[in-house]
Amino acid sequence: MARSAILNVMVQAAMKAGRSLARDFGEVQNLQVSLKGPGDYVSQADKKAEDIIFSELRRARPDYSFLMEERGAVEGADSQHRWVVDPLDGTTNFLHGIPVFAVSIALERQGQVVAGVIYNPATDELFTAERGGGAFLNDRRLRVAARSKLSDAVITHGMPHLGRGKHGHYLIELRNVMGEAAGMRAFGAASLELASVAAGRVDGYWDEPLAPWDMAAGILMVREAGGFVSDKNGQQDMYELKNIVAGNEVIQGQLLRTLKKPV
Ligand code: IPD
Ligand code: CA
Ligand code: CA
Repeated sequence: MARSAILNVMVQAAMKAGRSLARDFGEVQNLQVSLKGPGDYVSQADKKAEDIIFSELRRARPDYSFLMEERGAVEGADSQHRWVVDPLDGTTNFLHGIPVFAVSIALERQGQVVAGVIYNPATDELFTAERGGGAFLNDRRLRVAARSKLSDAVITHGMPHLGRGKHGHYLIELRNVMGEAAGMRAFGAASLELASVAAGRVDGYWDEPLAPWDMAAGILMVREAGGFVSDKNGQQDMYELKNIVAGNEVIQGQLLRTLKKPV
């Protein structure tokens, strides 16, 4: 599989940051048993990973703009191109020694995601996608699952954190979907959940609230694997509404309807 030069830059940046996270993850596992806990250590690991990505991408394309979780928006001379970066997606997992976390890097051109990389250093799984070029896990081409009934489907989803999101509303949605799907999962890392939809490991996914850096690369991954992505209204305002529903064409449509079922 041939990668473009720009995708190679993204892969190098994600893997370099991923190696740094993997080293810190080893230490986090030790700190679990300490009284102080790994909290400060994890925020340093997060920042370190973001610094690595920032300098790698900036070196390769000095003019591009950025939207990064820790730094926020960094305007470059070229506002048509923007990197959207989550240096550590799945922070709570990382903090607790659960090896389900990833680096997520997307490139937008005129507001459209054209390339995406999601890398889980704990499993060494590298998901890549380019607009019109398909989605891959390492060298294997990805395709969303073909299941066409929610009653056969495994659905993953984001659970709102303490103090964030609408917990009551979430519980209604959960009850609706749980009443129709074969099984429910919650990985705690939006990028890997979208990558798992792309890989056909799960049949659908929804989450709210999400930031652009949680979903940018994953949206392209799902689409390039033949899947569908929208906001909860079935439109393309995922960034504005901060929510997302993904799956193959049939399951995504069924999920949209099921989430909205009246109590
Ligand atoms: C979070 C994870 C989680 C999602 C949250 C995100 P973080 O990102 O992706 O699965 O449900 O909304 O904020 O904080 O671990 O980078
Ligand atoms: Ca995130
Ligand atoms: Ca993060």
